[in-house]
Amino acid sequence: MKQYIQKLTNGLQYGKHLLTQKKAKPYEFINWLRFANAGMLNDGNVHGFEYAIEHLPSDNPIIEIGSFCGLSTNLMNFYLERNKKTNKLITCDKWMFEGAEVPESLLEGSKITHKEYKQFVKETYIRNVSFFSKNNLPYTIEEFSDDFFARWNKNEKTTDVMNREIQLGGNISFAYIDGNHTYEYAKRDFENVDKHLDVGGFILFDDSADYYSHFGVNELMQEIKQMSNYSVIMKNPNYLVKKIS
Ligand SMILES: C[S@@+](CC[C@H](N)C(=O)[O-])C[C@H]1O[C@@H](n2cnc3c(N)ncnc32)[C@H](O)[C@@H]1O
Repeated sequence: MKQYIQKLTNGLQYGKHLLTQKKAKPYEFINWLRFANAGMLNDGNVHGFEYAIEHLPSDNPIIEIGSFCGLSTNLMNFYLERNKKTNKLITCDKWMFEGAEVPESLLEGSKITHKEYKQFVKETYIRNVSFFSKNNLPYTIEEFSDDFFARWNKNEKTTDVMNREIQLGGNISFAYIDGNHTYEYAKRDFENVDKHLDVGGFILFDDSADYYSHFGVNELMQEIKQMSNYSVIMKNPNYLVKKIS
């Protein structure tokens, strides 16, 4: 019964947020992109990208944790181009999905292995960004975020999945955190970004909406809201926060 009431409450909150959600300015390009580029993106996040990128505090890089097939990457890049911003977009993903610990195991109900699926999604990402972001290609490091930040902290010079050299390290102007949504991972991603985030810089947390109480990232948001050096810029329904000191 308790679970049923929780589900009902989540559903009602979700409906309410759909009605009150602020939408980004419509561009035909965004519709075409969304038709062709697979992804799991809440419309409200698009407004978060629009706002954060219009208000970037510096030319320092934008970081994305969890790129999947490149939908959010391409959208952030779209706003960078529209706003004539020169910030590099640096993303990370290892495309290791649930069950991929045994690469030769099959996706349940199919004859496709996890290894083949990973390769397909990675190639799809490269194809999508190469097409939709061809004028300003993002740099993508094939790592889990912990390893990505370990390399960032060492200011490593490396090559990305498209074989281009990139110097990691330094300050960050905006981070989109959309990797592992458990509390432990999201918190480490936050702490790693926080170390480098410009004052005036932004973090957008996917799946942080109040009604997503089953995701650990939601618990993390309650902690960040108490921090005196962060301020909530929007809850649409996911949280966009700004580092204010
Ligand atoms: C929800 S999808 C990202 C969707 C994408 N941002 C979009 O909007 O199109 C989550 C992605 O995070 C990746 N991921 C999971 N855990 C991660 C981690 N610890 N570090 C980096 N990426 C991770 C997964 O491989 C997956 O591609």
